[in-house]
Amino acid sequence: MEKILIIGAGGQIGTELVLALRKLKGKNNVIAADIKDECPDILSDGVYVQMDVLNKEFVRSFIIDNKITEVYLLAALLSATAEKNPAFAWRLNMEGLFTILDLAKEKYLKKVFWPSSIAVFGPSTPVDSTPQVTVMEPSTVYGISKLAGERWCEYYAKKYNVDVRSIRYPGLISYTSLPGGGTTDYAVDIFYQAKLGNKFSCFLKEGAKLPMMYMEDAIRATIELMSSDEKNIKIRSSYNLAGSSFSPKELALEIQKIIPDFAIEYKPDFRQEIADTWPNSIDDSSAREDWGWKERFSTSDIVKTMLSNVNTGLLIN
Ligand code: SER
Repeated sequence: MEKILIIGAGGQIGTELVLALRKLKGKNNVIAADIKDECPDILSDGVYVQMDVLNKEFVRSFIIDNKITEVYLLAALLSATAEKNPAFAWRLNMEGLFTILDLAKEKYLKKVFWPSSIAVFGPSTPVDSTPQVTVMEPSTVYGISKLAGERWCEYYAKKYNVDVRSIRYPGLISYTSLPGGGTTDYAVDIFYQAKLGNKFSCFLKEGAKLPMMYMEDAIRATIELMSSDEKNIKIRSSYNLAGSSFSPKELALEIQKIIPDFAIEYKPDFRQEIADTWPNSIDDSSAREDWGWKERFSTSDIVKTMLSNVNTGLLIN
């Protein structure tokens, strides 16, 4: 029987992944771990453990003592926050990965999931339909840590037969919990401001087109990748994954189809420089061929779902 540990369970992806995996595997088989002292309310139907991924001894003994078989390692600083604290971001994003990969190498774990990102690409990467294998010269600390992590995942898979799987997530859009510290976060915040009837001040330029995805698609992709037969997983660095791509202006126009008075202004800050180095769109044919990936949510589906579901109460908690 699988015993799953999700580290970084209180974050934007973690929250929804815990809920989805508990539904699928039973709530007693999915343990949520996060740096936060208190278990987020939404995860309180199952076991929660306070865990600092940098506390290697604690992470190791927890996994060994509780006979964990599968880890989803989501604890990380995202692109914008990482630029403010490069040394800590590098440490956080890399050390936890080695702790988990080593446990898998020592056969304590059967399977590992580790998220990568479109941030692995850089200014010299082709921007349209960015291929799976291409030039990668990331210029952010976050991107450098994700690219290095991808190389280590592949190394552990090839050298030590570790079953590690990964996705290069695009910007993720969801309403269950708020994102934090990402360059693509404007595409979540915009819905709260639209719902509140506020003018939205966007930190990216109107034309900053980036690959995006609705969270339900991202969670389904993660679960499909992790449950696919081992022989299908031909890429052990990380899979390109595409949902839909849009710019802030295109997103605002979709919102205006439902809220005609919605207003947006553009005040690009340092995050625009990050966005400038990332692709417009992604070629994810390897994920489609290897394990049958197909997105379900178009930009207009995302807009309709977000506007009907965002709870502006989350902003004050
Ligand atoms: N959404 C992430 C960020 O903006 C990209 O992985 O940092």
